[in-house]
Amino acid sequence: MNIVLMGLPGAGKGTQADKIVEKYEIPHISTGDMFRAAISAGTELGLEAKSYMDQGALVPDEVTIGIVRERLAQKDCEKGFLLDGFPRTVPQAEALDSILDELGKKIDHTINIQVEKDELVARLSGRRICKTCGTSYHVIFNPPAVEGKCDKDGGELYTRADDNPDTVANRLEVNMNQAQPLLDFYESKGVLTNIDGQQDIVKVFADLDALLLQGSRS
Ligand code: AP5
Repeated sequence: MNIVLMGLPGAGKGTQADKIVEKYEIPHISTGDMFRAAISAGTELGLEAKSYMDQGALVPDEVTIGIVRERLAQKDCEKGFLLDGFPRTVPQAEALDSILDELGKKIDHTINIQVEKDELVARLSGRRICKTCGTSYHVIFNPPAVEGKCDKDGGELYTRADDNPDTVANRLEVNMNQAQPLLDFYESKGVLTNIDGQQDIVKVFADLDALLLQGSRS
């Protein structure tokens, strides 16, 4: 099963992606996570990505497309994959089509998680992430059992560098500008499914899972 999961910052892509990849046993390919890993490792890619991410801007298409091209060619993607946060621009979507053509693959589900702007701001400002395993929590909507500690491994929870109010405002603006042309691109192909992301985490997953189960039966 090859899945593209789209949505504005804070829509719940990472939260839902974790559940989908666990159930369907496919690799989770998050361009944001790949950039953060490169930043932690202090690579050239990380240095370049950081200069954009710190401002809430998008990393240039050619850089982002390059890392996705390499990742999709890896062996573990043969059984399927979930792309989280890619594509984010029309040139990225066009490049993805070419990459998949070259690899003899196609997308089975193109999904957009829809959430209103005020809710996105509330979600991003309360997000906390485990330093050890990357699991995402929210201080109000999805709190850990013990404050500041991950339920899964007890790891310390931290606030992502780009979740400060100024960067959040810019990320939302930048991503909103790119989102509509991207959605139009997939809508015009008749492949886009919108999911109501305003519901609670369990209900959003139930909708996604029903969609994926339907697809896997047809
Ligand atoms: P990335 O890491 O992809 O960040 P993002 O798109 O801004 O999305 P987020 O990770 O912030 O949100 P999410 O939708 O995953 O929400 P989450 O599940 O965590 O990208 C970071 C940066 O990298 C970009 O700004 C850009 O610079 C660069 N980049 C990445 N991809 C790129 C690309 N393709 N091209 C160019 N540049 C790129 O949930 C958020 C919070 O809400 C959590 O606290 C969670 O617990 C809570 N929550 C989730 N669902 C619900 C719910 N249903 N109800 C209540 N709370 C919920």
